[in-house]
Amino acid sequence: MEQHSRTDAYTDRYAARAAGMVPSEIRALFAMAARPEVVSLAGGMPYVSALPLDAVGGMVGELVAGKGADVLQYGSAQGDGQLREHICEVMSLEGIQASADDVVVTVGAQQALDLITKIFIDPGDVILAEAPSYVGALGTFASYQADVVHVPLDNAGLVPSALRETLARLRREGRSVKFLYSVPTFQNPAGVTLTTARRAQILEICAEYDVLVVEDNPYGLLGFEGEPMRALRADDPDRVIYLGSFSKTIASGLRVGWVLAPHAVRAKLVLAAESAILCPSNFSQLAVREYLATQPWREQIKDFRELYRTRRDAMLDALEQLMPDGCTWTRPSGGFFVWVTLPEGLDAKAMAPRAIAERVAYVPGTGFFADGTGHRHMRLSYCFPEPGRIREGIRRLAGVVEDEIRLRDTFGGAVTGGSTGFQAPGPDVV
Ligand SMILES: Cc1ncc(COP(=O)(O)O)c(C=O)c1O
Repeated sequence: MEQHSRTDAYTDRYAARAAGMVPSEIRALFAMAARPEVVSLAGGMPYVSALPLDAVGGMVGELVAGKGADVLQYGSAQGDGQLREHICEVMSLEGIQASADDVVVTVGAQQALDLITKIFIDPGDVILAEAPSYVGALGTFASYQADVVHVPLDNAGLVPSALRETLARLRREGRSVKFLYSVPTFQNPAGVTLTTARRAQILEICAEYDVLVVEDNPYGLLGFEGEPMRALRADDPDRVIYLGSFSKTIASGLRVGWVLAPHAVRAKLVLAAESAILCPSNFSQLAVREYLATQPWREQIKDFRELYRTRRDAMLDALEQLMPDGCTWTRPSGGFFVWVTLPEGLDAKAMAPRAIAERVAYVPGTGFFADGTGHRHMRLSYCFPEPGRIREGIRRLAGVVEDEIRLRDTFGGAVTGGSTGFQAPGPDVV
């Protein structure tokens, strides 16, 4: 566990759990990456400018003028009933059949993560998480003093045999697992998607070991090929707690997400939400409700998909043409992220300041591992910059990586590597 900072005069007063609250790698980088001359491939900000802002603005204005007494009032801790009905309609696109009564509206999926961790985790409890995992989830897990045990991913998502081995080992050690946390579709940060065959295997293994699954799915509707993947929750309603969000399909600034949970868990979540925030913002919820009821939201999601697909293509083409030999990367079929593996002996964390000096930013892989590994990796986001900027960013990045390779070759592998945590594709990749 991290030590409290020596320069903080309040150190001796904090609760033990505050020791796990340390700034993420992304936060430290954001200040520098925000400078206009830097091409930021770091943040996962959705491109909200693609929304019809005038129409949304008019809709919100009418909402306040017409229903202000409701819109600006407190609401219920569970969230607006009609919005929860709409949420069930959205989830049905991924094969989920749910009752609005089992949905809790949250302040983004991030708050859903917080509430779930709060109700399930005592200090030292084990959470299984993909290696790499979403940095915001790792932050939440650390703040509740969970013991995160990683399970490797490959290009087909979480590796079932590794999950089974990890569960067997933990059982032998007499340690129980509270839940498996997974982003099965268009994963953040790896950009990979759990195949259909593996979905069944993962659920089977979790049933065998009686482990709950937290399925975090903010990108599920942002696929570039075919129909949306069937959610894990669609096939095991009693085992899977599902997290959704309007951050990527409408707008992240609204801060509206949700959790769908088995009925008894839902009741605990509502109580936890009540003590955390009383109720989610009525203003945001009714804006989302109105948007879903009056605006062509399915068409808008299609537009987002096209926009992100064009940017994904720009990034993959540029990587292909410009990156030096020895670098590999994933090829996402949806979502926001490409995960790059650098040649042996390079360290993406050590390289980050040099990249910033060359006016390109990314997130070093280490932020996505609870165990300090991931040095050879970096996350690149293609969601926000225009395609021309993406290409320029990759050109700059490729130059930085070439310099690092030269340095390594001159000084004999001085730049550290460490375990990668990300394995080559397994035999069951389809
Ligand atoms: C995997 C994952 N889960 C949760 C979140 C949090 O999303 P929200 O904006 O709904 O809180 C994000 C945001 O990027 C994410 O990538």
